Amino acid sequence: KKFSIIGVPMDLGQNRRGVDMGPSAIRYAGVIEKMERLQYTIEDLGDIQISRPTREEVQTRDRLRNLKEVAEGNEALARKVDEIISNGSFPLVLGGDHSISIGSLAGISKHYNNLGVIWYDAHADLNSADTSPSGNIHGMPLAVSLGIGHENLINILDYQPKIKPENVVIVGARSVDDGERELIRKTGLKVYTMHEIDRLGMSVVMSEIISHFKDRVDGVHLSLDLDGLDPIDAPGVGTPVMGGLSYRESHLAMEMLEESNLITSAEFVEVNPILDEKNKTAAIAVGLISSLFGEKLK
Ligand code: ARG
Ligand code: MN
Ligand code: MN
Ligand code: MN
Repeated sequence: KKFSIIGVPMDLGQNRRGVDMGPSAIRYAGVIEKMERLQYTIEDLGDIQISRPTREEVQTRDRLRNLKEVAEGNEALARKVDEIISNGSFPLVLGGDHSISIGSLAGISKHYNNLGVIWYDAHADLNSADTSPSGNIHGMPLAVSLGIGHENLINILDYQPKIKPENVVIVGARSVDDGERELIRKTGLKVYTMHEIDRLGMSVVMSEIISHFKDRVDGVHLSLDLDGLDPIDAPGVGTPVMGGLSYRESHLAMEMLEESNLITSAEFVEVNPILDEKNKTAAIAVGLISSLFGEKLK
């Protein structure tokens, strides 16, 4: 299998600077070397270029902060990811804030009839302009991919929706806004909150998810927001929420996904080295990537 790494230095989907340095931090933590040690062929395609808004532009927006730049960056990412898959390679996307999932899923999903998505996150990222408490687009990518949101975001690569609600599973949720809750209820979206994970254990949760996807989907995208982990383990994130998934639970989840052979694309987002402790969160991202690609089995 061949892997293609693509960095997305995007920090415009939220308001804490530094997450644009996530791809550098993950590379610095040794992602390429680790993957090579696992004997994969890996190419680093560098970063998608993200343009900065002017100061006047920044001041005129509130409901959908930096809409134009976020849409453009995601358009470019979608085209790149589309090309990676067309070339028979596995796209490994490094963020950047979680708004980049809009572009990843746009580029990936056109290659599948039924793409499954595992959304590993403290948040549901199901907001739109009218439900968002913040105006931050990183709180919206899952809704956008379901076809809900601003037309400039939902129409990237000219098709929509990118994914179906029955093919989405959220894991680790513990900070969900009212509007998001309502959307979850309306769509019947599958959510494993921290409550369910505490009750069942990660092993049962992942087994359930894997059997839910088997025979139903023709590919599964893992979208892993590092804030799904507890901030004690992963402090370098912009929107930390206490009571999260542990380092060990997260490794177990990755290892079970590796064994399932279901994952066909992945992204690791929200690593912010400015808020981090000696690049700990980037190092954890690299550790999880290694487990996802079979470190345990080698
Ligand atoms: N729900 C909050 C919002 O819409 C927080 C979203 C955090 N999202 C993330 N990808 N970290 O602003
Ligand atoms: Mn999150
Ligand atoms: Mn997120
Ligand atoms: Mn491991």
